[in-house]
Amino acid sequence: MDARKVNIGLSLGADICWPICYESLLAALTRDLHYDGRRVEVHCERVTIEPFNLRQPVKYDVVIDRLTHWYSTSREWIKKAIVLNDLYVYNNPWSLQSNEKHTSYCAMMRLGLPIPETFMLPPKSYDVTDDLEATLRQYARLFSLPEIGDKIGYPAFMKPYHGGGWKGVTKIDDAEALQRAYDASGTEVMNLQAAVLPYERFVRCVGLGPQTRKVNYDPGAPLHDRYRMDRDFLTPADAKVLEDTTLTINAFFGWDFNSCEALLRDGIWHPIDFANACPDSQVTSLHYHFPWLIKANLRWSLFVAATDKKMRKTLDWDPFYAVADRDLSLPDRLEAYAAIAHERFETERFRDFCRTHLGHLDELAYEFFGSPTMRDAVHQKVAALFPPHEVEEFTELFFSRVQKWREEEGRHGDQDGF
Ligand SMILES: Nc1ncnc2c1ncn2[C@@H]1O[C@H](COP(=O)(O)OP(=O)(O)OP(=O)(O)O)[C@@H](O)[C@H]1O
Ligand SMILES: [Mg+2]
Repeated sequence: MDARKVNIGLSLGADICWPICYESLLAALTRDLHYDGRRVEVHCERVTIEPFNLRQPVKYDVVIDRLTHWYSTSREWIKKAIVLNDLYVYNNPWSLQSNEKHTSYCAMMRLGLPIPETFMLPPKSYDVTDDLEATLRQYARLFSLPEIGDKIGYPAFMKPYHGGGWKGVTKIDDAEALQRAYDASGTEVMNLQAAVLPYERFVRCVGLGPQTRKVNYDPGAPLHDRYRMDRDFLTPADAKVLEDTTLTINAFFGWDFNSCEALLRDGIWHPIDFANACPDSQVTSLHYHFPWLIKANLRWSLFVAATDKKMRKTLDWDPFYAVADRDLSLPDRLEAYAAIAHERFETERFRDFCRTHLGHLDELAYEFFGSPTMRDAVHQKVAALFPPHEVEEFTELFFSRVQKWREEEGRHGDQDGF
């Protein structure tokens, strides 16, 4: 029988390191891939930007997209390709476009997750538009900022309602600081959120399909040290809460690839930032955890492409709401949401696919991440980010952390068991 050809597209912006690793490993991994009695020939290429006819076909089976959140031509091409050509993309572009960080807070409050108290504030100032004055004069209520500050309590965090890479995030300790931050916020619409401080732990849980990786995170450290390299720092119960929380959020919003930041205080994990559907994928921040990401990405994209997994074009929140309306404890509730997530991600079928068809990934990855190609990928990324006199030192640092991963984890399957 003829081989079945599948095409994977990488829709990229400034990414350097992870595509090099993904492409190199993909070629080795799929040299002899069979599915359903047929050889599967996998091609991978980088998606280019050009004019397109809305009716033109799409050659990809799956697109791994990193551009949609800010580059509209690619976003509109992707939306056309889903609607007209049945493309599978991670992540759902409509959801990415319309569900801001603010909406993600609302949704997870509705599902009963312990999101800190949060207010939304109208903007301090406006770009003038035709109907603005009439609207504000009639309907904008004067409000007392200190009263809102008292309701939320101090410390609090003020941050743009749409998120955005730590831009415009301010810790607020008292009413004066609140006023200063609001005055400085300009035309941005801001959320004011109760701080979870002090916290006992800060975890960033990255989800890719049903796969998760829980990373101990230190937001106060320099960028290259924020992702800590601790292992086994969570109790199994805590790990499960974080995993279920992340899968709930990702399945709810149709995000295959997203990260969830949660803070532990008095035994409760509070998610505070979980609309990050273009998660950091660079070796310069992930270092030790970078191989996991590449492996998880390979597994999920190949599963989607080889088994022709259908993308859910609509979100369908009703099953989640039905669980929310039951009288369940938080862990039980999370487990019930996660069950919906597993159904949507087809976790069992995925696990089976990985076992049957990708068993050689661990060995290939172990070799690859110690190779000169890997070192060069690190070097290229570091050279793009660091001043020339630091390039060698930081290349060595990140490469050595990847080697540490090889020593500690590389010879075993990944902790999440795929
Ligand atoms: N409610 C909170 N309690 C405690 N710390 C908070 C809270 N909200 C934000 N922070 C702190 O501020 C940082 C940035 O806030 P947040 O993650 O919401 O914004 P962001 O713009 O999405 O940042 P990034 O893109 O880097 O994740 C957090 O990593 C955390 O250290
Ligand atoms: Mg954040």
